[in-house]
Amino acid sequence: MLFAETPKRVYINDVAVRDGFQSEAEFVPTDEKIALINRLSRTGLAKIEVTSFVSPKAIPNLRDAGEVMNGIDRVKGVAYVALVPNERGCERALECGVDEINLVMSIGERHNLANMRMTCEESLAQFRRVMELVRGSGMRVNATVATAFGCPFDGEQPLHRVLWAVEQYMAIGVDSVTLADTVGMAHPAQVGEVVEACRKTFPGLPATLHFHDTRGMGLANVIAGLSAGIDSFDASLGGIGGCPYAPGATGNICTEDLVHMLDACGFDTGVQLDALLGIARDLPRIVGHDVPGHLIKAGKRTELQNPFPFTSSGG
Ligand code: COA
Ligand code: ZN
Repeated sequence: MLFAETPKRVYINDVAVRDGFQSEAEFVPTDEKIALINRLSRTGLAKIEVTSFVSPKAIPNLRDAGEVMNGIDRVKGVAYVALVPNERGCERALECGVDEINLVMSIGERHNLANMRMTCEESLAQFRRVMELVRGSGMRVNATVATAFGCPFDGEQPLHRVLWAVEQYMAIGVDSVTLADTVGMAHPAQVGEVVEACRKTFPGLPATLHFHDTRGMGLANVIAGLSAGIDSFDASLGGIGGCPYAPGATGNICTEDLVHMLDACGFDTGVQLDALLGIARDLPRIVGHDVPGHLIKAGKRTELQNPFPFTSSGG
């Protein structure tokens, strides 16, 4: 039986205001970001990736990171996360009292150079200094293996390269890892293989999966991840998102579509779908364009339609 061995509680980290807004053509005003995060905070999400403490020249859309982090309500039970590429980013995160930082390094060397302007070794050297800064602060550290399922410049990545990156992260003492499919190259068989290898090599490792739906395999990859025992997923309201330094990148898997599927399959996400849908319906106004999510267009699967919507009167 599908899911016979899988955990029933699933934790969702919404990354729309980070992965989504970073790549928008227009800057989303700071007060809109804060209002959106405050609404998302009250839907039952486990985590919200609020922003990135990166160079404002690299990601101008998130130049208001500190203001956003300091301006939001910090709702109990929700962990507020920020992406950090280097020591400077960690200092800024500590100043704002972030709950968790998310260190990011691509295992595709060329994507790491394009995105972070560092080799993998240089990123790891920064992360070692980050761990020194974090010590004693109580701030949690997650570390992302970006391009884990394929790199837009270097192609498919060998499994040993993923395991190498996780090993590096474990060695510097991070609390958890995320395996990220930056440009939607992952397929379900590969997800099963990579997750099983990671769980076997690093038993007890808390891991999250981060999928982009670039090639329509996003939710299928979630099913593969669940079947392999993963209970934590990144997703983005409306399915917006994408790395500005990865050509052809498109949106993350859509949070409300994910919650809807997991609800139907009998998982407990803790997320109130109707509340989430209400917020998702407002997203096109905030970003100024249509968004990829299915559910705000089709409605929930149990929503009944009027079988006779057209009247014959009036021609
Ligand atoms: N926060 C704010 N400013 C930062 C910073 C940080 N974390 N890190 C560096 N800077 C500033 C420096 O102070 C310097 O400013 P100046 O030009 O006014 O003197 C400038 O950025 C360049 O610093 P440098 O250390 O030489 O960085 P770089 O130009 O080699 O860029 C990164 C390296 C990592 C800072 C940059 O590539 C980056 O922010 N990348 C993030 C990309 C991203 O978020 N991608 C999508 C998510 S996966
Ligand atoms: Zn992403």
